[in-house]
Amino acid sequence: MRKALIAANWKMYKTPAQAKEFVATFLPLVTGHTRDEIVLCPSATSLSAVVDAVAGSNVRVGGQNIHTADEGAFTGENSAVMLVALGVSHIIIGHSERRQYFGETDELVNQKTHQALKHGLKPIVCVGELLAEREGGKTQEVLLRQTEIAFKGITAEQAANIVIAYEPVWAIGTGKTATPEMAAEAHLVIRTEVARLLGREVADNIRILYGGSVKPDNATALLNQPEIDGALVGGASLDAVSFSKIVRY
Ligand code: PGA
Repeated sequence: MRKALIAANWKMYKTPAQAKEFVATFLPLVTGHTRDEIVLCPSATSLSAVVDAVAGSNVRVGGQNIHTADEGAFTGENSAVMLVALGVSHIIIGHSERRQYFGETDELVNQKTHQALKHGLKPIVCVGELLAEREGGKTQEVLLRQTEIAFKGITAEQAANIVIAYEPVWAIGTGKTATPEMAAEAHLVIRTEVARLLGREVADNIRILYGGSVKPDNATALLNQPEIDGALVGGASLDAVSFSKIVRY
């Protein structure tokens, strides 16, 4: 049985004070909840505040982006080393907004995945097709390409620390969710590709999250699919009560 992981992607929302306020409301709502792993991914400026606020609890903290280098002349960037030093354990890599607005390629996603693993951060690697790709019958091809390149040079042992998030781009922030069946079908494509690349055992153990307009009222149907091992939640994770309901699907 794969333990589900429910992650909040706060994107570019919340000041440190707002992040702390969220945690103060959220923690009592998920006290003792061990069925699923819970990860909050605030923006870089709130990481420290959230790490402090969740200390000693069942909640972990993830970043939203890292550079490929340990340090260097890269104005405006943050490194894996810096995030680890703050007490961060997870990192979202290759989110479609990074791919779309910041030019991240499949190759860069692969490099960042290696960099995260090198420093002990658990990568949450995002894949997913655009609306035009789905409508053009290219979903499978896109998922296979993104997965294959993301895993280049990754060993079976390293893969045990990787989580994949399937996020169809047309479902992100749009209120349009993939049906549980559509999501499960995409997850199966990804899992089969992981099996081809790294063997059946790795594929059976790797967690594949669904992301894209997950809300308290659709979380149960999605997360009850055996192929869906958790959720990456944007909009509905900004409110502590709403996110706690998703965690307790
Ligand atoms: P959403 O975002 O839940 O607001 O659709 C999901 C994501 O981008 O990770």
